[in-house]
Parts: sequence; structure tokens; C-alpha cells
Amino acid sequence: MRRKMVAGNWKMNKTNIEGVSAIKELVKLTKDYKNIDIIIGAPTIMLEALVKASEGGTVKIAAQNMHYKESGAFTGETSPAMLKSIGVEYVILGHSERREYFFETNQFINEKIKAALAYEITPILCIGEKLEERETGKTFEVIFKQLKEGMANLTKEEAKKVIIAYEPIWAIGTGKTATPAMAEETHKEIRGIITEMFGEEVAHEVIIQYGGSMNANNAAELMAQSNIDGGLVGGASLDVKVFDVVIKAGMTK
Ligand code: 13P
Repeated sequence: MRRKMVAGNWKMNKTNIEGVSAIKELVKLTKDYKNIDIIIGAPTIMLEALVKASEGGTVKIAAQNMHYKESGAFTGETSPAMLKSIGVEYVILGHSERREYFFETNQFINEKIKAALAYEITPILCIGEKLEERETGKTFEVIFKQLKEGMANLTKEEAKKVIIAYEPIWAIGTGKTATPAMAEETHKEIRGIITEMFGEEVAHEVIIQYGGSMNANNAAELMAQSNIDGGLVGGASLDVKVFDVVIKAGMTK
């Protein structure tokens, strides 16, 4: 059975002091939690301090972005080698905010996915449709393209390691969550696409998180769906106590 994975995405929030204090509190609260993977995706500037503050606990640290080159003239960017050198184990890639505001393409994201895997950093690949795409019946087409291009040229072994986060854009930060049935239907389609691309075994093992206004009230029902293996949580991850409720919701099944 797939293990649940609850990841917080702090986005561009908190100072270093606030981040470290939140991680310490979270590590303390979750120290005896079992059968769940807990991750916090934090701004690059605080990653090293958070890795140190989380040592020995259940919480792992993710970057929110990364370049695919090891080094070079890419002002303002962070390389996989740099993340690896400070003990970052996960990286969120292709978030819809990066696709929209920083013009990231599926091809660029694919390069980053391959680089993360080469450095043994686990990528969390975000996919999801816009409201008008859902309303015009294009959801499948959009996620199909994002997966085909974003996971192009991966081996089966590599594909298994990729965590997919399905985040319908219309549900991010809007308070509008996909209903559990709606999310489950799309998660099933995603698993179907993965089956087509990499076979049944990979599709069975791959973790697919839901993201988009997941919170303390709806997390349990969403994560109770058979194809929803956890969550990528924005707003509700900023308050440690609220996030703890979401984590516990992932442990109940
Ligand atoms: P919210 O939970 O704030 O809707 O954000 C979801 C998200 O984008 C996580 O990556």
C-alpha cells in the first residue's frame, strides 16, 4: 500500500526566525507519528537552517524551485548540487505559480525533474488545469500533456520516484476545493496516464498528492479516496497547529 505524504508549501512566507521556530514546533508535535511522510517546502534562504532544525525528526525539507544546471552564469538561481550539499531531500517543481509568473514550460520542468533525480533529490511535480480548461472539458488533455512532457525520457525506476501533485489552479488559494469525488476522478486519470507511459507497476507505486485549498476540515475526506495519497498544502501549512490536523488526517487511513 502506498504511504501517505503530506507536504506543506510555505510559498513566499515567513522570515528565517519564524521558519525555524515553526519547524521546531512541528518536529516536536510529530515526533512519534508513524506511517506518514511529512515535508515542508520553504524559501531557499531558510533551507539550510530548516534542515538543521529538523535533523533526527519526522519532517523533511523541500526547496520550492531549482535550476537544472550544476553551476554557471544563471543569476539568482540555485542548483541541484547546492541543494544536495545542505541536505535538502525534496524539491517542488513546476508549481502553477512558477508556470504562470515565471513562464516555466513543460520542457524546462522536465530538465529540472531529470536533474533532481540525478542528484537524488525527490521531485514533486505539480500539474493541474485552469478554470476555463476544466469548464471547456480540457482537463484530461492538459494533465496528459503536462505528464507526457514533464516526465519525458525517464526510466521506470526514475518515474517511480517522482511525486505527482495534482493542483487544479482554480482551487489554489481560493477556498474552492475540488470535491473528493472530482479529485479522485482526476487522480484516477493521472494513474491511467502513468500506466500508459510507464506500466502498471510504476502507476501502482507512484504517489499522487492533491493540492488546492486542502485544510483541516476537508483533508480527511480527500485523503480517504483510494487514489489520493496525500496533500500539498499551502495556506493551511503556515500555522503549525492547523497543519498538524491535516497531517493527522492523512494518518487515519
Ligand atoms: P492553498 O492550499 O493555499 O490553496 O495552496 C495550494 C498550493 O498551491 C500548494 O502548493
